[in-house]
Amino acid sequence: MTVDVLLVGGGGREHALAWKIAQSPRLGKLYIAPGNGGTRLVGENISIGVMEFEKIAQFVEEKKIGLTICSMDNPLVSGIVDFFQARGLRIWGPTKVAAQIEGSKAFAKQLMREASIPTADFAVFTNHDEALRYVHEKGVPVVVKASGLALGKGVSICRTLSEAESALKEIMLDRVFKDSGTEVVIEEYLDGEELSIHALSDGKTHVLFPVSQDHKTIGEGDTGKNTGGIGTIVPVPWVSADTLKDLDARVVKPTLEALAARGASFAGILYPGLKMSSQGPKVLEFNARFGDPEAQVYMRLLKTDILDLFEACVDGTLQRQTIEWETGFTINIVLCSGGYPDEYKKGFPITGIEEAEKLPGVVVFHAGTTFDGTLKTSGGRVLGVSAVGATLKEALDRAYEAVEKINFEGKYFRRDIGAKALAA
Ligand code: AMP
Ligand code: GLY
Repeated sequence: MTVDVLLVGGGGREHALAWKIAQSPRLGKLYIAPGNGGTRLVGENISIGVMEFEKIAQFVEEKKIGLTICSMDNPLVSGIVDFFQARGLRIWGPTKVAAQIEGSKAFAKQLMREASIPTADFAVFTNHDEALRYVHEKGVPVVVKASGLALGKGVSICRTLSEAESALKEIMLDRVFKDSGTEVVIEEYLDGEELSIHALSDGKTHVLFPVSQDHKTIGEGDTGKNTGGIGTIVPVPWVSADTLKDLDARVVKPTLEALAARGASFAGILYPGLKMSSQGPKVLEFNARFGDPEAQVYMRLLKTDILDLFEACVDGTLQRQTIEWETGFTINIVLCSGGYPDEYKKGFPITGIEEAEKLPGVVVFHAGTTFDGTLKTSGGRVLGVSAVGATLKEALDRAYEAVEKINFEGKYFRRDIGAKALAA
């Protein structure tokens, strides 16, 4: 029996998920709300915003859509899953209470403290003067985080006291992240390699994906401002199966158990971001969704029908489900608008995607693109150029050849994605 599916969102992650869903022999029709210039090639874009729960639910009822999928922070944290479930509609993703693990860094840190899950030392403040005093007491480097969602921009790595003072002023006094900055988490700075873990869970059973590595900062050599993530590899060659088992035992399993014990049992993708510090692995943050661009590399490597996985989560039958991966490596390089993550211009025509996709192993996912007869840039992260290869080196060479074929005004990308892993 086929199933019609609606996917909520419109970034590179959603193009990758839509691309994979479209390959399922069990798919009837695929809709994406609102989608982007790439999702229109694999399904039908519907112009409804991701926070318009009532309109999305009405559309799903009208079209008798059998499964809705949401892997975006804001709708999940705002309770899209509860909204759908209350109307008797099938939806994949965590409920509002479970999504707090991403929506409130203060909640996540408290849970980790109580469940002895390794994380950076921290304190939570709602009072600016107290926060300031703490920072002066602790000294630098220190990390200042808005507790709520802030489009990946609420975290400042402060190497001087004056940087920490301005971060606290922006979040707590100037309120640049509005209510997301009511609470502030201040934590110790951790050195080490960053890893992305993804665990698929139906609330009772979970299964781990291969470990991936994102590159967060805009500048080469991990310098400059943080972005939403601008280049990812999977698997990470130096992470062994035993290490992954250890991370499961120390981080994923106890987190899922602690959530369940709080009546917030988690179904969907739990994505802890980790630092492999000199004091062992430590959790930087939890996400209640697929990473972006992590989803773009996972979808290239996943062999199993993703609809089977989504439905097993919704039905609570993940234990009976196997999950298979292609061998080899995938890399994704994000092409950004010049200026991102600060101000940038949009509306520039994009050329060369077809030429890029003629190269072996290459697929281009759209993130910030729009199509009005011409394909144009419409966001900071514009495209994700992915390539598979038998080795990491082969995947890298293919992707970097492909990025040269694509052009738009102001195109920027990092030339060192995967370079550290290759050298390790
Ligand atoms: P978060 O949203 O909390 O993951 O923070 C965004 C990025 O900031 C992370 O992916 C890290 O690169 C960096 N970061 C966050 N917390 C720390 C920390 N305690 N020490 C070092 N880097 C951090
Ligand atoms: N890759 C970073 C994120 O999705 O949060």
